[in-house]
Formats: sequence, C-alpha cells, structure tokens
Amino acid sequence: MKKIIDAKNIIKTYDIAVRGSKFKNSIKYSSADNGMLNIEVVKGETSKFKALDKVSLSIMEGEFTCVMGPSGSGKSTLISILSTIDSPTIGKIKVNGENVIEMSERKLSRFRYENIGYIFQEFNLLDNITIRDNIALPLLLKNVNKKEIYKRVEALAEKLDIVGTLDKLPSECSGGQKQRAASARALISEPKIIIADEPTGNLDSKNSHELLKILKERNEKQGTSVLMVTHDAMIASYSKKLVFIRDGKIETELIRGDLSQKEFFYKIVDITSKESQNLFNEI
Ligand SMILES: Nc1ncnc2c1ncn2[C@@H]1O[C@H](COP(=O)(O)OP(=O)(O)OP(=O)(O)O)[C@@H](O)[C@H]1O
Ligand SMILES: [Mg+2]
Repeated sequence: MKKIIDAKNIIKTYDIAVRGSKFKNSIKYSSADNGMLNIEVVKGETSKFKALDKVSLSIMEGEFTCVMGPSGSGKSTLISILSTIDSPTIGKIKVNGENVIEMSERKLSRFRYENIGYIFQEFNLLDNITIRDNIALPLLLKNVNKKEIYKRVEALAEKLDIVGTLDKLPSECSGGQKQRAASARALISEPKIIIADEPTGNLDSKNSHELLKILKERNEKQGTSVLMVTHDAMIASYSKKLVFIRDGKIETELIRGDLSQKEFFYKIVDITSKESQNLFNEI
C-alpha cells in the first residue's frame, strides 16, 4: 500500500516570551523634542519552545487515523504541518509522493486544494459570503459547472442537516452549523485526503455521528485517507489507527486490526482514562 503522507523527524519550534520579560514585544512611549509622542516597539526576549520533537508518522492510502492527546500537546501543530498549511522547523514531509517542503508557495497552494480537504479547528469560513458560497468555494475555484456545483452543495447540506443555513452568513449561524458548513466545504471536492482538527468539537452526538458516517463512507467506498484530531474516544473508535501524542512526541500508536468498533473504543478509553486517573492524584 502507498504512503499518502510520510513525515520524518519533524521538529517544530515557536518563539515564546522569556519568563520575566512580560511581553514578546512591548511598546515604549517617550516625548519627542517637538512635543509629539514617540512610540517605539521594544523587542522582548524570546526563547525556542519545541511544540513537536522528532515526530515521524506515515499515513497509508485509504487509512483512517485519529490523533489524540492533552490540550497543548501539539495535535493542531502536527496536522497543520502534515496538511502543508504550516511548515516544520526541521524535518521531511512527502504528501502523495511529492516533497512538499521544497514546493514554491504558488505550487503548494494548488497542490493543497487538489489533494487535501481541511476542516479547521476554528472553521475559517469567509464572513461576507453565504454558507452556500462558502461550501461551493473549492469547486468554484475548479471551474466546475455552476448548476452542478449548487446541486452538490444542496445534497451535502441535506446530509449534514444545514439546508436551512445555506442563504445565511456565517455570523447568523450557530457554532455547530458553522462547523458542519466547514466540513461540507472540505468534503465537496472529494479530495484524496481529508484532514480535520476536532471536527465534532461543537456538535451534539447526533450530528457528530452523521459527520463521522460520511467520513467513514468516503474512507471505505472511495479510499479517501482521513486524518482527524479528536478528544472523544467514541469518535476516535471510527478510525483504524490511533496516534496519541504528549509533549510534542508520539507516545502510543494503536492499530485497530480485527477489533470491532466497540472493542477498539474500549482500548482507546483505556488509554484516555489513564489521563483522568492521573488527574485524581492531583485533586
Ligand atoms: N503560533 C504559536 N506561537 C507560539 N506557541 C504556539 C503557537 N502555536 C501553538 N503554540 C504552542 O505549541 C503547543 C502545541 O499547540 P497546539 O495548538 O498544537 O496544541 P493542541 O494539542 O492542538 O491543543 P488543543 O487540544 O488545545 O487544541 C502549545 O503549547 C501552544 O501554546
Ligand atoms: Mg488544537
């Protein structure tokens, strides 16, 4: 089977403010000779924070992988690097056989929209166009026939129960409706890879399972590779592989193998409940 994503020794560092120098950058005011106010941006001291530390991960074509881990462990950082939205400080990544690190920004953005559907943790819908046009956007960029586009939008909106929001602006929708619209936008162009950062974080359990049913169907019928971050063991049980990360490192990789979804769920609960048990020691 082909590796659709292959990441080796990924290190991602961020500049963070040094303790004691309160702000990363601060503003210094002084009066100038001509009586005006001088405003100067003073660079604060920063140090390097390793959000990902030598992470290697392969995603096979048609695999359904979930990433779990405590808040701040590096999940969003990892998947935004794997989806080429962000780049690592050090490391190599191939997506669909192409070395994405060496691609120019222009080539990369084309590659991204031809290969990857990304569901952002914060939705990233365009504020001043309707939900209908937000969902249609990836196809409008591909010059697909408009009638065909809006037919597909309606069909997907029906499945995700957001037909009533299609003519609204994102600001007129609830969090869960925006999240489903963001999912529809990622699904509409039937990409080879779907990458989702907590796509059910704002959904009730019925809508979560409706979305997961669509992802499962795409994965099983069309061989779409799915990579998804979630905090929910029930949602993670839809996957075939679980990657648990902590402090920027992969701690556990769990393969579902022949286990039923229910059996896999209990294995995942085992891992995540250790988290909760540790919390008891701190109470
Ligand atoms: N742009 C940034 N600048 C500095 N530090 C950052 C930046 N983005 C993320 N971090 C830090 O990197 C670490 C990993 O962040 P990340 O967003 O990947 O966590 P996460 O596992 O997705 O958490 P959550 O479950 O809360 O979404 C955190 O400690 C975070 O504070
Ligand atoms: Mg996150």
